[in-house]
Amino acid sequence: MTDSAKAFYLTTPIYYVNDAPHIGHAYTTVAGDVMTRWHRMAGENVWFLTGTDEHGQKVLRTAEAHGVAPQEWADKLVADAWIPVLKTIDAANDDFIRTTQPRHMERVQRFLTQLKDTGFIVEGSYEGPYCVGCEEFKLAGDLIKNDAGEDCCPIHSKSVETISETNWFFQLSKFADKLIAHYEANPQAIRPESAYNEVMSFLRSGLQDLSISRSTFDWGIDVPWDDSQVVYVWFDALLNYATAVGLGDDPASEGGKKFASTWPADVHVVGKDILRFHAVIWPAMLMAADLPLPKCVFAHGWLLVGGEKMSKSKLTGISADSIVNLVGSDAFRYYFMRAIIFGQDGSFSWEDLVARYTSELANGLGNLASRVEAMVGKYFAGTLPTPGEYTAADVAIQELLAKTAAAADTKVRDFDFQGGIVAVKEFIDAVNLYVTEQEPWVVAKDEANNKRLATILYTICESLRAIAQLYAPIMPKSMAQLWSDIGAGESGIEFTLNDVARWGQLNPGVAITKGESMFPRIEEPESI
Ligand code: ME8
Ligand code: MG
Repeated sequence: MTDSAKAFYLTTPIYYVNDAPHIGHAYTTVAGDVMTRWHRMAGENVWFLTGTDEHGQKVLRTAEAHGVAPQEWADKLVADAWIPVLKTIDAANDDFIRTTQPRHMERVQRFLTQLKDTGFIVEGSYEGPYCVGCEEFKLAGDLIKNDAGEDCCPIHSKSVETISETNWFFQLSKFADKLIAHYEANPQAIRPESAYNEVMSFLRSGLQDLSISRSTFDWGIDVPWDDSQVVYVWFDALLNYATAVGLGDDPASEGGKKFASTWPADVHVVGKDILRFHAVIWPAMLMAADLPLPKCVFAHGWLLVGGEKMSKSKLTGISADSIVNLVGSDAFRYYFMRAIIFGQDGSFSWEDLVARYTSELANGLGNLASRVEAMVGKYFAGTLPTPGEYTAADVAIQELLAKTAAAADTKVRDFDFQGGIVAVKEFIDAVNLYVTEQEPWVVAKDEANNKRLATILYTICESLRAIAQLYAPIMPKSMAQLWSDIGAGESGIEFTLNDVARWGQLNPGVAITKGESMFPRIEEPESI
């Protein structure tokens, strides 16, 4: 298999179905969706996976508290909340994996058997603290004291439980040195740098073997050789990234071919809460099975509420619907990628959302498009005119576009979504300034200046053609509309990210239409 045939493979975490999603989950999925749309629009072969994590005590207890069986609970949450939110935020995932699907459970069992056979899984006993919110065995150093003096998990602020069980163990301790060597040789494998440093210092403090089964409840995948135990939920969940693309299948089968053309993942996008699972346990599992490691784990920051992580468990979540109903899915996507540096924490605020929507989308881009569409309508009967000779001001726009397209591509591919958006936004600002300075409405007063007027309006339309392409991965719906409004479809241009900076792609003579306003003005919601 040549490298070019391998898909760019990106995953989101698979989310717990203990409750409905909030904007924290939507944030991760949007970032993954923007990145994969970017690669897809550049003509690359792409695979984008998301899904749900359905086993373990956290989901089991929630189902029990609602008096339903865990499978029934999961089915309902997936159908009523987790699948619909993908539509709400306009995510174009290629697959959706659920850990209760047979395709996953069978491959997990096969993988476990392989590790047992090669001696990496052994019997042992565990006694220590466990946080059901994190589904994690904790170290004493991970915990904080609450007001009552009890040991608590700092993420969920709930007291930890002590468990004492005989379980099956994965020999994680054997992999500390190998992981350190791997990350020293591949510093880009954990990003951002703060995440890299955290993992390295954790690895240098040494690793303990990991209990990978539980015997006190049965909501999980059966350990194939021991029916008194189910697989520890994280060991089950991490494997989704590989089971979804055919882990362990015969190379000649469909699953085997999918695996060869997809694995290893190019990037696992996760929140920083689950960095260690992804950058320590998961690669060690893969090393034990002699499989290639993911190229990168990117741990982004948290959306905060009152300075704390927005959380399902703490019921502090804001739904994606509440924002999308106000500004639409495109502005939702734009806002989170624009306002927060990817890799750092950020606080959501309605004021900031409305302010940026109004200044950057409604006034900045929306107004530029509707003005030029109206002027082409008025002065050229809605037909794109043929440009005349370009002046220095026109050429400056063309040159700025070339710089903008290159900068946006470099930045977005490097997870600097904010930088990529700002590069395009600065181009929009420059084109708006160009309109102000060129004063096409003044030029239009004298019939003798008709050619100059044509050149100005062509320059603006052609700029919008490029903006529609560069913003399409971020705002797919409105940019598709803009693309058609300015006659790009009729010009026969491919709606891709290739060749964006080449000037003069719109064909004079195509229809320029003033469609519906892309970013209608909004009133601030009552809740502000
Ligand atoms: O951890 N800010 O699932 P989960 C930003 N099932 N992102 C947030 C967020 C916030 N306040 N809250 C949640 C699990 N997220 C496991 C994962 S993967 C093999 C198993 C996002 O439902 C962020 O991506 O708790 C975080 O890592 C993830 O949701 C946790 O979702
Ligand atoms: Mg969580």
